[in-house]
Amino acid sequence: MPALKRDYVSIDDLGNEEILALFKVADRYNEDLKAWSSTCAGSILATLFFEPSTRTRLSFESAMLRLGGGVISATEGNATSAAKGESLADTARVVGGRYADIIVLRHSDEGAARIVANYAQVPVVNAGDGAHEHPTQTLCDLYTLYKEKGRLDGLEVLLAGDLKHSRTVHSLAWALARFEASLVLVPFPGLELPDNVLERIRRDWGADVTRADVGALSGLSQDKDAVYVTPHKPHQQSLFTAITAPQVDHIDAIYMTRLQKERFESEASASENASSYPKLGPKQLKEARFRETRVMHPLPRVDEISYDMDLDPRAIYFRQAELGVPIRMALLAFLLGVIDLGAPAPRRKNLPLYSSAVGLRCENVRCVTNREARKYAVPEFHILRDVPALLRCVYCDGEVEPKVVGHAESRRLHRGNAAESSRIRPERRVYFVDDAQAQAAGFGG
Ligand code: NCD
Repeated sequence: MPALKRDYVSIDDLGNEEILALFKVADRYNEDLKAWSSTCAGSILATLFFEPSTRTRLSFESAMLRLGGGVISATEGNATSAAKGESLADTARVVGGRYADIIVLRHSDEGAARIVANYAQVPVVNAGDGAHEHPTQTLCDLYTLYKEKGRLDGLEVLLAGDLKHSRTVHSLAWALARFEASLVLVPFPGLELPDNVLERIRRDWGADVTRADVGALSGLSQDKDAVYVTPHKPHQQSLFTAITAPQVDHIDAIYMTRLQKERFESEASASENASSYPKLGPKQLKEARFRETRVMHPLPRVDEISYDMDLDPRAIYFRQAELGVPIRMALLAFLLGVIDLGAPAPRRKNLPLYSSAVGLRCENVRCVTNREARKYAVPEFHILRDVPALLRCVYCDGEVEPKVVGHAESRRLHRGNAAESSRIRPERRVYFVDDAQAQAAGFGG
């Protein structure tokens, strides 16, 4: 194990070159899946799955067994001490102590894998945390797309369906933006990509976000207008002033998602959406611009891709699932320190960190800091902007704009949008959502 453990909790935890290097390792593993049974001999993988899974858990377990390691597994909250009230932190300490050498976790709270990574001594992999991220599905998606198209940069990828709750879409959108692909967002109405996900694409990777004309995409959307996310090319802007929305006349891949029923407030609101949810099949893909399109889906499919699509050579969703084994083998071997990728770790943006047990909390009710870990995790944020203050939760990426900033010693308050607040040294700042929260903590008059 390397001196500093590497976790894979977010797509951000691997650099672009590392991802491309993993593809090469996966290619080698894939030539003969049975030839690697001494690679991780003696290592143990723990799969902790507190939400349903077929492919992700089984492909991880298969990957570890093919590498010659062993697997221990807890697959239902009810069957573990979580049902007795044990915290994720304590589970992480124990399983990530002497029981296992690497942990793969799936949990319904957003940011749960970050908590486990903080408390486990061994590498932790996020296999889906609520509606937040699913970065190993993204490895399968990128790997498959790369094999099909020979590159990622410059591709036009259309993301369709429930973009709001699909964690696979959030990790994939961030990754594609990083690799300078373009995104065409065609959500089911009301299930648009969350603002914080889109904002992050714009802010962290400098993408341009405009509207584009996608024409009639019968079956996917009646709306001709889509959100179009393209890598920022400064010279283009200075040369052209777009008066009309650009037309998308070529699609490299459509990434279809199912309605994430389990993330809705009630069953009634989920089934209301289900009746008019789009369905994709060869009939919708007759135009010339779809000739080279690959149809992708993280699976499980419900009704959003018709069965007659399966025989169409453009369908690659079962290939995505199949390639999950070699790419997860490569990831496990890398995180266990058995292989060296010869590529640099991701460069982190040096955003200042803020954490405080009083005052500001993440506003996302599904964030792990408002649920399971409320009792023991101190809220932690990246400071994205000083004035007006804007912070991003380290656990779930939720953004919050505190209205009031206090001085830790004088206890004086300033408006979050006033320049004086930025003059308080970051280590002395205490952020609050509003005056009432500040006063309750003993700040202000
Ligand atoms: C996805 C998930 O769990 O988010 N499934 C998977 O891991 N392949 C997608 C989904 O459930 O819709």
